[in-house]
Amino acid sequence: MPRVYVTRKIPPTGLDLLRQSCDVYVWDGELPTPRDVLLEEAAQADAILTMLSDRIDSALLDAAPNLKVVSNYAVGFDNIDVAGATERGIAVGNTPGVLTDATADHAFAMMLAAARRLGEAERYVHQGEWKTWHPTKLLGQDVFGATLGVVGFGRIGQAMARRATGFNMRILYTGGSSAGAVAAELGAEAVELETLLRESDFISLHVPLTPDTKGLLGVDAFKMMKETAILVNTARGGVVDSAALVTALQEGQIAYAALDVTDPEPIPMDNPLLTLDNCLIVPHLGSATTTTRDRMGVIAAENILAGLKGETLPFCVNP
Ligand code: DGY
Repeated sequence: MPRVYVTRKIPPTGLDLLRQSCDVYVWDGELPTPRDVLLEEAAQADAILTMLSDRIDSALLDAAPNLKVVSNYAVGFDNIDVAGATERGIAVGNTPGVLTDATADHAFAMMLAAARRLGEAERYVHQGEWKTWHPTKLLGQDVFGATLGVVGFGRIGQAMARRATGFNMRILYTGGSSAGAVAAELGAEAVELETLLRESDFISLHVPLTPDTKGLLGVDAFKMMKETAILVNTARGGVVDSAALVTALQEGQIAYAALDVTDPEPIPMDNPLLTLDNCLIVPHLGSATTTTRDRMGVIAAENILAGLKGETLPFCVNP
């Protein structure tokens, strides 16, 4: 039977599917498979099921003579050297679609939480500062009727925009080459990034991390944004220049950031973002619902099973 290495314990449905026709080895630790173990396992594996926290680079691919499939348990695949895998004839898969709604729900929740300062409000109660109802404390911003800028109008960006229609928001977007019909249905306007940055009250990022999007929001972008703007990032931390974000939040170039993702991850405890009241940070939870993580496991397993049979993966990211 082919040998499959799974770098973290994922929900059982996907693992059970693999076990029907493969020898499956699963790293049982709370933290990612250590690099030396991953290299040893890859050397023997026909397929590996990886997390976004595993670096699948040329050194690993070179150490894996039998490897036929790398199946990432995520829609994003910036942790994998896809070009290197392709050169070596290794198929790379991801898990799109099944996590679209969970991630858009989470981005919308982050937007609402930042607008209404829920992180600060919770700390206020826990620290015993709630002495009475207060007419002017912890005032937030209106979401209903505000302008939302969606950077990256793919599946998740569109799902975010769909939610925003329920809040009567004006929706601006960039990207999404084939998004015209959905944009028309949602009443969303395609604009240049600069217009989006200047006119949006809320800016939500939904682009993959690529050489083109790395540091997309930097010093200049923050200067264009409204002083009241709220940034929501559920995409990848590297899309935002962290140092520029710290300055923007400290100097009031923007009002607030809600970050599901950081650069690096996990965020080091001495990162200045952790000292700012106007920054809400949670630990990369976009797809974190029971049903979604289960479905991701099934797709990741199906990608492996197809690749081991020499078939095209149902969700293949090789060019
Ligand atoms: C992804 O799938 O890329 C998310 O960031 C985690 O589920």
